[in-house]
Order: sequence, then structure tokens, then C-alpha cells
Amino acid sequence: MQGWRAAAAALMVAIVLGVPAADAAELRLPVAEGAVDRISVTARARGCERALMTVSVGGRLHKTVGFGRRWRRATIVFDPAPFAADVALAATRCRLKVRRVTAVPRTAPVALGTAVTLKHVADERYATTLSANFASVTTENELKMDQTQPRSGEYRFENADRLVGWAAARSLPVRGHALVFGTQTPRWVWHQRQFPDMVRKTLRDHITTLVRRYGDRVREWDVVNEAIGHEGDWRSNAFYAALGPEYVEESFRAARHADPTAKLFYNEIGADLANPKQDAMFAMVGDLKAKGLIDGVGFQMHVSIHEGPSYEQLRATLERFAALGLEVQITEMDVDADGLSAPEERLARQAQVYADAGRACRAVPACTRFTVWGVADHVSWLQPGKVPLLFDSSFAPKPALEALRLALQSPPGA
Ligand code: G3I
Repeated sequence: MQGWRAAAAALMVAIVLGVPAADAAELRLPVAEGAVDRISVTARARGCERALMTVSVGGRLHKTVGFGRRWRRATIVFDPAPFAADVALAATRCRLKVRRVTAVPRTAPVALGTAVTLKHVADERYATTLSANFASVTTENELKMDQTQPRSGEYRFENADRLVGWAAARSLPVRGHALVFGTQTPRWVWHQRQFPDMVRKTLRDHITTLVRRYGDRVREWDVVNEAIGHEGDWRSNAFYAALGPEYVEESFRAARHADPTAKLFYNEIGADLANPKQDAMFAMVGDLKAKGLIDGVGFQMHVSIHEGPSYEQLRATLERFAALGLEVQITEMDVDADGLSAPEERLARQAQVYADAGRACRAVPACTRFTVWGVADHVSWLQPGKVPLLFDSSFAPKPALEALRLALQSPPGA
């Protein structure tokens, strides 16, 4: 018990006591190490029969607690735990006095997820391996625009409905991927690119339709995927051709309007370590954050045993974006292990690469989820013969599985 008290003591808490009339006690909890699972606030509203204490986290209403004359403790449970909670306590028509704040540091491991594909879920071994080893899924293709709206105004939801339903039946949280992705935008949108207003309507209608259809089961969306080029320039796609860079903000506005409670992410490949693409991404998501349009960013981590960020480089990347007040996630990791002759050496090196990434995520409180891009080697998007994932083509676990699990559970920064 003492451990978390010490950790809680490490939290810096600045409380400004309220003044009469519209009292507001500003409570800031910049968490020094390790995210918090729970914040317990003991406060009292004096000089009135009853007051409501509204608690908002990151500017969004989180909880309202009724107060009477006596001291009242409000325990605010976060799921997933935020990395730094700006908890604003406000009571009206009476004096709000906060007596004690305690925070319980996060002890739960980082959630491990995987990409899921409808065509494989009928395979009992695939379904069993997934359900037994992963805590969330990302739809690999079924929610992309070329699959859900192959022709203008003609929506096709049967595959997405079946896959999201399959996950919901197993209580697996679903990450919706991806509302806007240049590579998988159907051709008919390109044909509209001379008419910006038409493309803007297409963009808004598509996003609104999907977010509202799956709102109760998909709580996190990759709103825009891979908008930035290798040199930090804008990648060409149908929406960029018609609207220019503003299509990104348009997309996030549409998603936020469609479901203000969903978590909205920007997802990128090859921005895992400092480079021009990462800098451009940092500027873009910083602007979206300032406008209240984004909640997190995803780093795909399609790497190999020869190429990818070190633990220190990835941790620095995650911390850089967390400092914007964003959640960060590893969203599509796989590790191409070609190029070493001895299989044992190849698997050991691969395990180390996964473990380093897992430790970097665990060390950054804002890193709330770690997703690999597929259940087993033979279902990987990488051409046949590659062995990039945590289970082999017989669904036997590889050294990387245990190495990653351990890294995601280890104490932050260990
Ligand atoms: O649905 C059609 C099917 O009707 C047709 O018979 C078949 C013929 O080849 O193609 C099917 O579409 C394929 C689609 O996956 C669904 O299986 C496409 O050809 C194929 O190109 C597509 O590949 C996906 C790729 O994104 C497309 O960009 C991969 O499975 C998927 O793993 C990959 O995932 C991306 C992320 O979305 C973004 N980050 C990078 C990552 C890897 O490229």
C-alpha cells in the first residue's frame, strides 16, 4: 500500500480554492510517472443545500457528482487511464473546498491488440488464439472506404457488420480502421476531384454514416491514415487533390460531430523516430489538438530486425506526442525477420525488437494500447514466407510473444 502512496505523493497537485458565486477549484494532476487508474477527490460544497461538482478530464465532461453539506469523496475511475489529468472541479452557488486528492498509479499492463480479418475468423484455431491472447482488435480492411462504399452512395456493410459483431460477441473492443486512407479510397472519389464541394460532401457523409452506424461498438477510430509523405510533404490522394490539406481537419470535424464521445486518432507509418515526416505530423496533430478535434495518434511500427527505432528513439517519439496531451499507441506492429540465416537467431532478434517497443510504450503513461498487425505469420499482409508476427503459421507462440507480454507488464521505465 505504501508503494502507491509514495507514487501518489509524487504527483504534483495544485489546488486553487474556489471563491463564492461560480466557484471553481482548478485541480491539475500532471502525472510524473505511470498513468493513474483512479483519482479520488474529497471535497465539500458549503453554503448551499446541494451543489453539483462537475469533473472534466482534458476539457471534456467526465463526471458530475452531487454534494450535500458534509464532505463527499468522488472517486473518478478512468478507462483507459489518462496520462495527465486536468481535472476541473466546479461548483456553482456555493463554496467548493477540496480536502484531499489521492491518485492510484496504473498497475494494469498495456492492452495488447491485433488486426483481425473476417475471412480468418471461421478458422477455429485463429479465433481461439485471438480470443486467448489479445484484448482488442483493429479491423484490417473491412471498415475501409473501398470496402464499405465501393460506389458513390452504395454502402456495403455486411462484412464490417459481421466482423464487428464477431468482436462484440467476444467483448473485444474494436478500433475502426480507417475512415480516410488514400490507398484504399475508391476510384469514384477521384472522378469527383474537380468538384471540391462534392468531395467535401462525400467525405462528411461517409464519415458520418460509418461513425454513427458503429458508434456503440467502435469507440476508437483511425480517422485519417497516412496523410504525410516521407519528406514531410502531403501524400497525394483523391481528397487532397480536391480539397488540399484541409481534408484532414474536415475529416476530424465530421467524426467529432458524428460522435463526440468516440476517441479520434491520426495513424501514421514510418514516423516512429525523428524525421521530417514525424515533424510534419507533430505540427498537424498539434493544430488538431488545439482545436479539440483529436484524442490520440498511432505509430504503426512496420519494422524489421535490421531497421526500426531503438527503445530510446521510440520512447522519445511517444513522449514528444504525449506532451501535446494526446494518447499514443503502437497500432500495427510487425517485425520482418528475414536476413539472418539461423532461425533461432532470427527469432531471438525479433523478440528483442518487440520487447524494446513494448518497454517504450509501457514507460510512457500516455501509451494506452499496443496492437500487432495480425494473429499469425501466414495471415500477414507481407508476402507469403515472411514470419513477422507473434504466432507462427501453426499458431504456435514464438519467443516474441512472451518477450512482448513481459515488456508490456513491466513497471514503467524498467
Ligand atoms: O477485397 C478484395 C477482393 O474482393 C479481391 O478478390 C482481392 C483480389 O486481390 O483483393 C481484395 O482486396 C485486398 C484487400 O487487402 C482486402 O483483402 C487488396 O487487394 C489488398 O491490397 C489489401 O491489402 C491491405 C492493404 O492494407 C491495402 O493497402 C492489407 O490486407 C492490409 O493489411 C494493409 O494494411 C495497411 C493499413 O491499412 C495501413 N498501414 C499499412 C498497412 C499495411 O500495408
